[in-house]
Amino acid sequence: MTAIAVAPRVHGALDIVVRDGIAVLTFDMPGEAVNKLNRRMKDEFSVVFDALEADEAVRAVVLVSGKRDVFIAGADIEEFLEIRGSADAERLSRDGQALLTRLERLRMPVVAAIHGACLGGGLETALACSYRIATEHPKTVLALPEVKLGLIPGAGGTQRLPRLVGLRAALDMMLTGKNVRAKKALQIGLVDELVHPAVLRTVALDRARSLADGTIKRSRARRTRGPADLVLEDNPLGRKLVLRKAREQTLAQSHGHFPAPMAALEAVRVGYEQGMDRGLIEEARLFGEMAATDVSKQLIFLFFATTALKKDPGVEAPAPEPLPVKKIGVLGAGFMGSGIAAVAAMQNVIVRLKDAEHGRVGKGLKAVHDVLRERLKKKQMSRFEFADQLALVGGTIDYSGFGSVDLIVEAVFEDIGLKHRVLREAEQLLPGDAIYASNTSTIPIARIAEASRRPEQVLGMHFFSPVHKMPLLEVIVTPRTSRVAAVTAVAFGKRLGKEVIVVNDGPGFYTTRTLAAYSNEAGHLLDAGVSIEAIDRALLDFGFPVGPITLMDEVGLDVGGKVGETLFAAFGARMAPAESLARVVGSGRTGRKGGKGFYLYDADGRKGGVDASVYDLLPTGAQRTEMLPEEIQRRTVFAMLNEAARCLEEGILRSARDGDIGAVFGLGFPPFRGGPFRYIDSFGVATVVSALESLNQRCAPRFAPAAILVDMARRGARFYRAEGKPVG
Ligand code: NAI
Repeated sequence: MTAIAVAPRVHGALDIVVRDGIAVLTFDMPGEAVNKLNRRMKDEFSVVFDALEADEAVRAVVLVSGKRDVFIAGADIEEFLEIRGSADAERLSRDGQALLTRLERLRMPVVAAIHGACLGGGLETALACSYRIATEHPKTVLALPEVKLGLIPGAGGTQRLPRLVGLRAALDMMLTGKNVRAKKALQIGLVDELVHPAVLRTVALDRARSLADGTIKRSRARRTRGPADLVLEDNPLGRKLVLRKAREQTLAQSHGHFPAPMAALEAVRVGYEQGMDRGLIEEARLFGEMAATDVSKQLIFLFFATTALKKDPGVEAPAPEPLPVKKIGVLGAGFMGSGIAAVAAMQNVIVRLKDAEHGRVGKGLKAVHDVLRERLKKKQMSRFEFADQLALVGGTIDYSGFGSVDLIVEAVFEDIGLKHRVLREAEQLLPGDAIYASNTSTIPIARIAEASRRPEQVLGMHFFSPVHKMPLLEVIVTPRTSRVAAVTAVAFGKRLGKEVIVVNDGPGFYTTRTLAAYSNEAGHLLDAGVSIEAIDRALLDFGFPVGPITLMDEVGLDVGGKVGETLFAAFGARMAPAESLARVVGSGRTGRKGGKGFYLYDADGRKGGVDASVYDLLPTGAQRTEMLPEEIQRRTVFAMLNEAARCLEEGILRSARDGDIGAVFGLGFPPFRGGPFRYIDSFGVATVVSALESLNQRCAPRFAPAAILVDMARRGARFYRAEGKPVG
């Protein structure tokens, strides 16, 4: 074994060992969990390329990662925070492109031996190699996720990917940022072959040798081509059509709020029409443009905020160790209970699902089955895993099996009497240290805990529906909840794949309360004569995934009505239910589940148009007045912002960061606006206060600005100190 002549260890992340003319280049950043690309790494690669070029003994190179389950995770996002303007970002992109062009043009072939995450700049690096081998392993995923940060691939990805896998497959990856697993990567030609992880290095060395000998060729568009390729990919007209369709679809999905996918399309187009060199110039220019957008800054903030949250145990340091959760009991096999059972089973947790009668247990088990089956269908799990996970969930109408659970999640009807009863029943059997969590959406946890013999083990675990899709979990602690109970609930929530915020107890906690302020304001707009369509359209345009009236139908008008009553009782006049909502709820309409709400629904629950007859119930009748979308947005959104601020003021929220994450992941607040607190900062608190004051002149007392806002406006304070990172 001979080491290369020039000492390659510049910063200690790259290591070269040459044997029989094949250099193995191992990327392993010291002190980091993953490999990332930053300016220092670019310099180091550059020196290594010089050394490789200079060493005549080297005939081929294998690039491999020294990390366990990561090839290269992508660009170092911390570095993006230092970007000063679009010209700076463009330069960063040009540097990255130059480095990878150099890799592509090295005298000798380079084989990328990929195991684990190969993302963003990592995949762009692999694309510049001569040959790609990936392991057939669940941890091996390839993606260009830049659009998720409001950016586009900036190191040649928009040019090399379509040339390798074809236009349609490339757009599918680039415009969504989604992960491609090993098998699919082989199918589309993104990698040249798949191997078992145990032989990755051996096979890579072998292929490097064959490439050097010329017995195999550098890979280029290895995928099998069908007739559709001829029509849509291999001629300019077909490509124009594909690009146009993609543009239309992207615009329709994003309501014009996300510029990055459109920019990626543009870079791809230029590359096809004017060649790779022009394409690269355009890619860098657009990367620069995107990096300077507010959208990108907010999405990068959310990335850091969620990363910080993942490390947050949920209580002040020093946090106790969470208790292990191997088996849980779920009370109530309804909509939420069955969803919670399903996500727990997916993490190999044993579940006892209890309801009051056999029929309901059966329905609940069927719902669990359906959720798991969907994952099987989408090939997110094997048949064996499906069978194993399904077998973990057992149904019961008594409390059998509850004597050995570590945690109970209660999801019975929203009724305090019933909640007290089931808590008392369950506690008779529960092991001493088991935790009792309620999934209530409004009732203060302290009230539920009044029935408990050990209130220190009672807390709230507020999931969102549908549980297997919604990413947020709001854990609610009372002054009596123990720290161990809190960290255990948080750790369990994270294990279920959720973003977990911990909030203090109070009516409606954080999410239900802020959502109620927003929805109720939509009700006041109905009172003022604005049409249902106009309200929903304005908030869709603002960036919510559904409008507030549609959302009320989805959640259930009866449920919304109860929430409204509870919050009115707790907070008084400013939460008084809008007349229109009270009347529609009072009419017995329940929304989608009952087939009748503000909108029409068919027998399968599919939404139709507005149910015109609902206007007869409203105080202003069928006569509707016009209102500017900006005014609709201001009233509903500012009601939410103000309520979120009150939650921070009252200590319901631990931080502005939690409030932003809770609203984005639990309520659908537009991520490109960062969340309520980032959004307030983007205007300046003083501007928001004066807007609230002027709204309050017409709509008192609903818009009286929260004291915290008034105080911050006076001091010229912000919620976040720095632009990108969730500090302060
Ligand atoms: P659901 O009506 O679908 O299910 C409730 C279940 O509890 C029913 O199957 C019922 O038979 C069962 N139940 C009644 N008495 C029982 C007893 N003594 N023992 C065991 N089970 C009993 O209601 P859903 O929507 O699942 O809501 C459950 C809880 O989750 C409520 O507290 C609700 O506020 C909360 N929640 C609901 C959300 C939603 O979007 N539906 C979202 C977040 C929380």
